[in-house]
Amino acid sequence: MVARPALRAATRIARRQPVASTYSSHNFCTSTPTLRPSTASSSSTRDSSNGSTRTTHFGFQDGISESEKTERVAGVFHSVAESYDRMNDLMSFGWHRIWKDHFVSSLNPGYSSSIPPKPQRILDVAGGTGDIAFRMLNQSHVVNANPNIHITISDINPSMLAVGKQRSLSLPAAQQATLSFLEADATQLPATIAPDSLDLYTVAFGIRNFANIPAALAEAHRVLKPGGVFACLEFSKVGNPVFDAVYKRWSFSAIPLIGQLVAGDRDSYQYLVESIERFPSQDEFRGLIEDAGFVVGGKGYEDLTLGVAAIHKGMKPL
Ligand SMILES: C[S@@+](CC[C@H](N)C(=O)[O-])C[C@H]1O[C@@H](n2cnc3c(N)ncnc32)[C@H](O)[C@@H]1O
Repeated sequence: MVARPALRAATRIARRQPVASTYSSHNFCTSTPTLRPSTASSSSTRDSSNGSTRTTHFGFQDGISESEKTERVAGVFHSVAESYDRMNDLMSFGWHRIWKDHFVSSLNPGYSSSIPPKPQRILDVAGGTGDIAFRMLNQSHVVNANPNIHITISDINPSMLAVGKQRSLSLPAAQQATLSFLEADATQLPATIAPDSLDLYTVAFGIRNFANIPAALAEAHRVLKPGGVFACLEFSKVGNPVFDAVYKRWSFSAIPLIGQLVAGDRDSYQYLVESIERFPSQDEFRGLIEDAGFVVGGKGYEDLTLGVAAIHKGMKPL
């Protein structure tokens, strides 16, 4: 992964464009005291690239082709699908529920200032077993009393989607009627998702697994409407060195062990902690979001639990 902060900053300044007031007209909260300009378009290639055989990393292993990473990630999530929800609780002491609740309430899907409310189309990418989409359905149908939304859970992995579909059967019928499932690679969304068609794109704990993150961000930008919001919840970097040392010790020793004991799969959970370590810092990831053409507000992200996870948001300019 090659960071080019100086070049990126220069490009951003060269392409500076007025964006003020664009956030205020939008439904999804992007918490933004100040707005920062961004490049007009494009995915930069932070993964090393040489023509057709682009390489990336898989956990701590470098020089892995993007197609091999995609296959190996698929293997991980086929393997963990059945135990995924239970393991999430064990590994995070239940914190992932609080982060997900906060993520969804900060986006407030279904909220609309117009009467009747405008329909909202939402894509939950790497939606897996449905944790984010189900919360968004509840926020819209119950909290905002607005059933006029449609959420698609998309994921590359049919095993994760199968668990999500099964879980969705316990949702109220009205919520099920506004939910659909799609097997798709986030780095190459299908043509059925038209350009400029979505109000909100969410991705939670998925993007660090993608073989080509800039390509996925470019796809997010393509399918969102002008004014649409990209929102990502992902593991991130802990700022406090003491807490970071404790957290890393826990991650690298306990999580693979819990994976082995509970799910019978040490390697997949070893990959999961390594993938967290390899994911860019909050500021680097904000740079990738800006490179894809989104505008971000303020510092562009919100740390959760001292940076164990972070929420990044960006808006496609109007
Ligand atoms: C850690 S799970 C997160 C699931 C869910 N969003 C949540 O927060 O509980 C990561 C998900 O990313 C999916 N994934 C990995 N690579 C993907 C890709 N290229 N395109 C779409 N989904 C992908 C996996 O199949 C898996 O379901």
